Amino acid sequence: MQQEGDLSKNPKHIAIIMDGNGRWAKKRFLPRFMGHIAGVKAVNRVVKYCDTQQIKVLTLFAFSSENWRRPKDEVAKLMDLFVGTLDKELNRLDKKNVRLRFIGERAAFSEKMQQQMATSELRTEKNTGLTLVIAANYGGHRDITLAMQEIAQQVKAGDLQPEEINEDLIAAQLSIPDLSEPDLFIRTGGEKRVSNFLLWQMAYTEFYFTDKFWPDFNAEAMQDAVHDFSTRQRRFGRTSEQVENPSETN
Ligand code: IPE
Ligand code: IPE
Ligand code: MG
Repeated sequence: MQQEGDLSKNPKHIAIIMDGNGRWAKKRFLPRFMGHIAGVKAVNRVVKYCDTQQIKVLTLFAFSSENWRRPKDEVAKLMDLFVGTLDKELNRLDKKNVRLRFIGERAAFSEKMQQQMATSELRTEKNTGLTLVIAANYGGHRDITLAMQEIAQQVKAGDLQPEEINEDLIAAQLSIPDLSEPDLFIRTGGEKRVSNFLLWQMAYTEFYFTDKFWPDFNAEAMQDAVHDFSTRQRRFGRTSEQVENPSETN
């Protein structure tokens, strides 16, 4: 484990696919939904970890744009859990100076849920601690598609020339353009895929996979991931020599 107090090598932005709730429950002969309930406790543990480790941004994949394909009953229960949890945790998060934000298409959610999302964002808007981004009805392809539509509109209106389209301009139209891209991506539950999460934003993110099911994830498991991250050399296309001696090489 990394030495406590050594926060300098910590990632600034961690993005997590919280996977394995259903299998955690199945292993215990419980209904899948019990896995989602246990998963909320893991969210609280991880938020607390990020808060104490001074992580700036934590993005959690709560519901993908493909998760609507699940049985109706599971989707309905997930929505209820979402609303209930937000209701219950908002005060505590606000007191902890956490800023809440949501990414994904909200129109598909109930009026009540959309209201709740807007209220919690507004209420925590000025908080300066951890930024907690919840991805709900989020899909990376959709995020990029909507950005393209917006850019095409600007071109159509004559406000933008096609040759003016560059990476910065595209990034600015995507979700969370003002936040740094994830440094560390964690996926629990053993699957090694991205499942349409932050596709554009994770171009240079370090990936970490663990077989642990999300409800079993805790501060120690999080610390292991952060420690693993701290041992990696991020080269962004350069050579090791360039990264190690930036002044000597050109
Ligand atoms: C992740 O756990 C939670 C959501 C997708 C909402 P899963 O429900 O996907 O759990 P497994 O993968 O079936 O075990
Ligand atoms: C990804 O998990 C989405 C969330 C954790 C919210 P899934 O369990 O839905 O991913 P796939 O379908 O197995 O790739
Ligand atoms: Mg899953």
